[in-house]
Amino acid sequence: MFLTVEPAGSGLRGELRAPGDKSISHRALIFSSLASGQSELSGLLESEDTLATLKACEQLGAKVERRSDVIYVTGTGGVFTPPTDGCLDMGNSGTAMRLLAGVLSGQNFDSTLSGDESLNSRPMGRVVKPLTLMGADITASQAGTAPLSIRACEGLKSIEYRSPVASAQIKSCVLLAGLFASGITRVQEPRLSRDHTERMLPLFGVELPAPISVNGGSRLKATRFAVPGDISSAVFMLAAAAMTPASDVTVRQVGLNPTRIGFLRCLEAMGADVNIINQSSHSTEPIGDVRLKFSDGLKAIDVPESLIPDMIDELPLLMALAVTASGTTRIRGAEELRVKESDRLAVMATGLRKLGVELKEYPDGIDIVGGQVAGGQVESAGDHRCAMSFAVLGLVASSRVQIEDAEYIATSYPGFKKDITQLGANMWDEDPA
Ligand code: S3P
Repeated sequence: MFLTVEPAGSGLRGELRAPGDKSISHRALIFSSLASGQSELSGLLESEDTLATLKACEQLGAKVERRSDVIYVTGTGGVFTPPTDGCLDMGNSGTAMRLLAGVLSGQNFDSTLSGDESLNSRPMGRVVKPLTLMGADITASQAGTAPLSIRACEGLKSIEYRSPVASAQIKSCVLLAGLFASGITRVQEPRLSRDHTERMLPLFGVELPAPISVNGGSRLKATRFAVPGDISSAVFMLAAAAMTPASDVTVRQVGLNPTRIGFLRCLEAMGADVNIINQSSHSTEPIGDVRLKFSDGLKAIDVPESLIPDMIDELPLLMALAVTASGTTRIRGAEELRVKESDRLAVMATGLRKLGVELKEYPDGIDIVGGQVAGGQVESAGDHRCAMSFAVLGLVASSRVQIEDAEYIATSYPGFKKDITQLGANMWDEDPA
């Protein structure tokens, strides 16, 4: 399906709530499925990725019920039941696959984790390695990709794992496996990645003996949990407002975890008028309302490498935003983008070039020269965040932009088109001729 975007005729204006945070929704479902008792989850994201996790949790024995906007999960007390055909389909979701690999490595039955073409081509050696060190019997394909075959566990041992990558998926996988190991499992990472797992486990009754560590044998207890709005979705509306003259947009009750707000820091550094108000906390996470008023003259920046983990999912959008800034924006230290839902550096570089943007791609980053944006057709390569980044940039193009494979937006933000249209944008779906 194509998404066709008409250049904006006027500013985007209004207020909205972002959908629930995807990372936190996956964890809320997995943790409540592991817990004993019934958890009450509100604000959960219902997108293709999180619905894959929900389905897997049901296949593993959790009972899930919905009453109005609340999802009730009756957990298994930590002892999952084997899925009927042994295989769990994680769709497009790397988080679902890597976190569940940790949990399933500690179960006493065989299982297989698989996904769509994109997920089955992403590197899984990064979780297979530490899980194997813990004594798990887990194998990937020869290329180090899914499907992952996990054999019944005869007991895991704790490890101290120094992760080569600042990745919350690796960290969370090892910590979840650590719940089924003897002794204390610890993770160190080169830079702090998003810390939702460490914040959420104590609410489910698991005390961490030290930062980024768990005691083997800890049991989770059901809880009530409110999922905040997803900053990684909110940013599309904020960036659209930062680019489109006469815009004024407020996103309410969005998660503002310090490990997730690198994009807001970049917006500020580029000279955007960002205002954070009504700050409070929501279950385990800081939240607030973010208002963005268009102000003329965004400036290019050199993105500090220290901010990369705090905005890893927002880098495609930053590349789009950089086109509207004066000067050359430089992104480095972002080689992880090559192993996301697509090779995001390559997909963004190809699409931006098609829209007439001057840029230079590097193995770990990109330089983007601000300037005019032409209309045209671009490929999202089935990557939800690249598709939404091109859609936002289409608002300031000289003529229509069409994005291929736009149905993948439902991976994380099924209401994207509706929300941005409500703010005044004009975009619609079209079937390819
Ligand atoms: C996520 C961690 C990040 C991020 C992904 C969600 C998570 O991946 O890109 O969208 O929920 O733990 P990495 O851990 O691979 O950096």
